[in-house]
Amino acid sequence: MAPRHSEAETGIIGGSGLYDFSALEEPSEYRLSTPFGEPSDRIVVGGLRGRRVAFLSRHGRRHQHPPSAVPAAANIYAMKYLGVTEILSVSAVGSLRDELRPGELVVPDQLVDLTRGGRTSSFFSSGLVAHLPFADPYCPRLRRLVLDAVRTVPGTVSHDGGTYVCIEGPQFSTRAESGLYRSWGMDVIGMTAAPEAKLAREAGICLATIALVTDYDCWRQGEESVTADLVAEVMRRNVAAAKQAITSYVDTSPPARHCDCHDALAQAILSDPSAVPD
Ligand code: ADE
Repeated sequence: MAPRHSEAETGIIGGSGLYDFSALEEPSEYRLSTPFGEPSDRIVVGGLRGRRVAFLSRHGRRHQHPPSAVPAAANIYAMKYLGVTEILSVSAVGSLRDELRPGELVVPDQLVDLTRGGRTSSFFSSGLVAHLPFADPYCPRLRRLVLDAVRTVPGTVSHDGGTYVCIEGPQFSTRAESGLYRSWGMDVIGMTAAPEAKLAREAGICLATIALVTDYDCWRQGEESVTADLVAEVMRRNVAAAKQAITSYVDTSPPARHCDCHDALAQAILSDPSAVPD
């Protein structure tokens, strides 16, 4: 795959309920194959308010990839190949707090990865070792700009920060698990933030998440426990707000500048090529 590093600048990865972004002007479709396999679906690149934007449906347009099988490494690799320097990732999440209500938006600032290790969570493997800083899993600069954009969407309540706990799924949590995550101080729950954020950092791409709260998981007395139908129904009603926030972001944010995320690999490679014997 020969690099085409200037097709798009901003990437959007849409989660459950956000399967397309029809606002993109003069769209072109890219069906890519990467060393990490094929992305979840074709990537649509087009113009949005003068900016080149690449859209990818995380689960595929027919929602064919379960959380454990989302080809996150191929998705991030493909975005990098197209020249993307920043990704706005949209996800449906459950709320683990009274004050984060279904229909509201959260821009998380922390992540706890409880996936089981079966997902490709690094571009590096045996022979090439890289340990990257990940204390702030979401780009602080992009997160601030996204939050400003989210706040411009009329009638939408948004929350600055919060910890996203990423479970393996595909089953939702038990009541005991839900209570445990709450006792740990987690704020929202989903199944896909990891390894996407780790891979974006390795690829030197800024990433921020717009998390749409769809349910109260199963911990809240008197509240319906989460079901796939409930998630889909709340997403249907609120996906327009996420799209508006993205358009507002593109309208109001300065063109991508240099960010520390882009240099994340600079001091990360530990393997020493000079130590390899002839
Ligand atoms: N996605 C949306 N709601 C969820 C929940 N309660 N648990 C895990 N993933 C979710």
